Amino acid sequence: MAELGVNIDHVATVREARRTHEPDPVWAAALAELGGADGITIHLREDRRHIQDRDLDVLRETVSVKLNLELACDEGVLDLACQVRPDQATLVPEKREEVTTEGGLDVVSNRDAVARAVDRLRDVGIDVSLFLDPDASQIELASQLGVHAVELHTGQYALAKGEQRQQELTTLVAASNQIIGLGMALHAGHGLNYQNVTPVAAIASMHELNIGHSIVSRAIMVGMERAVREMKALISK
Ligand code: PXP
Repeated sequence: MAELGVNIDHVATVREARRTHEPDPVWAAALAELGGADGITIHLREDRRHIQDRDLDVLRETVSVKLNLELACDEGVLDLACQVRPDQATLVPEKREEVTTEGGLDVVSNRDAVARAVDRLRDVGIDVSLFLDPDASQIELASQLGVHAVELHTGQYALAKGEQRQQELTTLVAASNQIIGLGMALHAGHGLNYQNVTPVAAIASMHELNIGHSIVSRAIMVGMERAVREMKALISK
């Protein structure tokens, strides 16, 4: 069965909306672990729009499952990653203006920068995964760089409807076979939710799924009634 990495970035997004101390992604990580998360995933973006340096430091101390840090090939964030040493680093592309990670890393066009980042992370003992579109030339190059895993970008699959979704799934399966054939671990993520996750989880040798937005969204919904009840109880005291 595929492992579940719970991406808690959007807990920090709510906190940063008020620049206050709650909700704390550190608490969310502990609760996710209680729920059975096999890993905790955070993206320390160059613009620090959600996860902050403090979160990375505290989570390194408190997370007892795999800590997976998503990061761009940015020297400052790479320095932090090498100091803090998460269990795994997933290299992703990053654009300041984007709402979320829009596509996979283009290793073909940025080979030197990606290779340098991979070497820096691997030299301090961090497993490295590359977040890639299901594209044969990108996957081939990932293997040449000696990374531990490839995380397939499932965004196109998640956006597609009807027959198109089936085609996107076929593309993901072909890319998955290539990744496994090249001896790398198979991960996937982005846009996966309660409606579309099952066929991706069923891909042979799927090792890790990283899911954030839909789990945080669901957590808000299943927690709302209790949260209101608790506030009413305090008001009525
Ligand atoms: N995997 C990677 C590499 C990502 O960048 C993201 C988004 O931060 C995810 C998985 C999770 O995507 P979502 O929030 O859509 O579940």
